Amino acid sequence: MGSALREDPRGSVPQEVPPLKRLVVGITGATGSIYGIRLLEILRGQADVQTHLVISAPGKRTIVEETAFTVRDVEALAAHHYDIRDIGASIASGSFRTAGMVIAPCSIKTAGAIASCHTDSLIARAADVTLKEGRPLIMLLRETPLHIGHLKCMVALAEMGAVLLPPMPAFYNRPKDLDDIVNHTIARVLDRLNLPQTLVAEWQGTARRVSAGGRSQPHPALVRATRDPRAARAGLRGRVRRRRQP
Ligand SMILES: Cc1cc2nc3c(=O)[nH]c(=O)nc-3n(C[C@H](O)[C@H](O)[C@H](O)COP(=O)(O)O)c2cc1C
Repeated sequence: MGSALREDPRGSVPQEVPPLKRLVVGITGATGSIYGIRLLEILRGQADVQTHLVISAPGKRTIVEETAFTVRDVEALAAHHYDIRDIGASIASGSFRTAGMVIAPCSIKTAGAIASCHTDSLIARAADVTLKEGRPLIMLLRETPLHIGHLKCMVALAEMGAVLLPPMPAFYNRPKDLDDIVNHTIARVLDRLNLPQTLVAEWQGTARRVSAGGRSQPHPALVRATRDPRAARAGLRGRVRRRRQP
């Protein structure tokens, strides 16, 4: 009484509800493979989350071109990883219960495949399964500029229930480096999945932040970009006039 049901190989006995939150992670060939890698790094530290990773062939290429990681390093961050062609993998079936899927980054090609239910790769199939089972599908769609075909694809995906979360940097938190920018987006992904994160504190309002002395120094590149032209003309290089908060 009350004991969990055991999995039987013939599938005639229902499986127990998994105690772990299984999360499917897809990495495609859009630029920004570091987003998927950072997500895996963070989730690796969460004992109750089990990651199931699929990397497309172009995704493997961008990992090598854009980061110091090897594909093997990235695969080792996940609890399980699958070949993109393995459309018979567990995550290709809705009966394999997961807490959702994140595609980080998501190319337009993969977004188009999912929007048109063209599920001939394991990423597209797992995403389609995630949507049909009513589970969260978070897509860090990355392309710019966007033509009308991209926009129509995004509308179709939103109508199907996907969460479109393009990796767009925010500057209100005064990012100091690329890590801050990547972490900010990944924090939003984890928030959307109701998973804990300590990467980014929740916004408490501008006035509270200033009175608490919570202002960090902006990155020098941002200082340069926002330098008061009058001060620059006066030769006050590096001295920045405080901007009023909006
Ligand atoms: C370095 C590099 C950066 C790329 N960046 C993007 C991008 O930001 N967005 C995009 O949709 N495709 C981008 N591509 C093209 C995709 O990799 C290509 O369309 C590929 O077919 C996507 O396949 P996949 O979705 O199966 O990974 C990039 C390719 C390379 C080599």
